[in-house]
Amino acid sequence: MEANGTGTNGTGTMRAISQDVLGGPEVLREVELERPVPRANEVLVRVRAAGLNPTDWKHRAGGLFLGQPPFVLGWDVSGVVEATGVGASLFRPGDEVFGMLSYPFGHGSHAEYVTAPARVFAPKPTGIDHIQAGALPLVSLTAWQALVERADLRAGQRVLVHAAAGGVGHVAVQIAKARGAYVFGTASAGKHDFLRGIGVDEPVDYHSTDFTEAARDVDVVLDPIGGETSLRSLRVLRPGGIVVSIVPAGSDDLYREAGRLGVRAVRMLVDADHHGMRRIARLVDEGGLRATIAGTFPPAEAARAHEAGETGRTTGKLVLLMD
Ligand SMILES: NC(=O)c1ccc[n+]([C@@H]2O[C@H](COP(=O)([O-])OP(=O)(O)OC[C@H]3O[C@@H](n4cnc5c(N)ncnc54)[C@H](OP(=O)(O)O)[C@@H]3O)[C@@H](O)[C@H]2O)c1
Repeated sequence: MEANGTGTNGTGTMRAISQDVLGGPEVLREVELERPVPRANEVLVRVRAAGLNPTDWKHRAGGLFLGQPPFVLGWDVSGVVEATGVGASLFRPGDEVFGMLSYPFGHGSHAEYVTAPARVFAPKPTGIDHIQAGALPLVSLTAWQALVERADLRAGQRVLVHAAAGGVGHVAVQIAKARGAYVFGTASAGKHDFLRGIGVDEPVDYHSTDFTEAARDVDVVLDPIGGETSLRSLRVLRPGGIVVSIVPAGSDDLYREAGRLGVRAVRMLVDADHHGMRRIARLVDEGGLRATIAGTFPPAEAARAHEAGETGRTTGKLVLLMD
């Protein structure tokens, strides 16, 4: 069986978390697959740690972009380069790297080994371990691409981060603070000390407070919730401000309403990016970015990790330890 469409030539096997049918966490199985071989411009990485993300349970249950299994999920990687394909000169065997596999079709990091274009990786910051480095890539790239690339966030601007205690939210807060922004963040009241600890200036309890009353004159909203939250977020913006929603599908009402109010709205999907990973690594090196680790799981407990994540109540990140 081929893992993920990558080349295989029988050089050995590896353990992986796979599934044959869509369904609940119980469909996940630890299996032996052929170890992939790096093709031209690819590297083979021995995965040490791999973050879990909501896209993992969305694909596990509903196929989302990938359709029908069998497949190995996982986009986050921290590990060690084991071998390089023809022309892949960016890294050498033994190099520690971290990165996000091409989203969505480059999946497969919930395995002992994965192949990917060398350029999806960057050198792992030496000051953090593989658990940290495996937790950061997808959520950090998402937050970076939303706040910096789409919204061009500047020092002194005001940002509202919805779900600020979640995987994306808690790194978005840190990226916004590192850029000198003033940050509002929504979460349940019990998580407000956590929010203050990562730099949120004004925590908002979305259960008891209307965020459109609590946050005003905002330049940028990062919205991982979608639907009504995206629409209502338009109202907290200054003229010319922007809502960046990371829920990619939704009604065109969002754009119509943004136009009517003289503000902007964009929906995005995260995209693998070597340079983005280098910027994230620099922020980590400078001490401006750390993942909060909510839990780590061995491969045998992948189903339990999915169950924990699927509650939607995680503070920070869940990580699979693959070795
Ligand atoms: N477009 C993209 O490329 C992209 C990339 C990454 C993620 N995403 C999507 O973004 C969403 C968030 O991802 P994630 O990794 O951050 O998820 P996560 O870590 O599972 O988020 C959990 C957090 O969400 C908070 N939360 C839930 N509902 C909330 C609400 N209505 N208002 C405020 N906070 C709320 C929870 O806090 P409480 O317990 O206080 O409710 C919890 O701390 C997912 O749907 C994911 O698929 C999209």
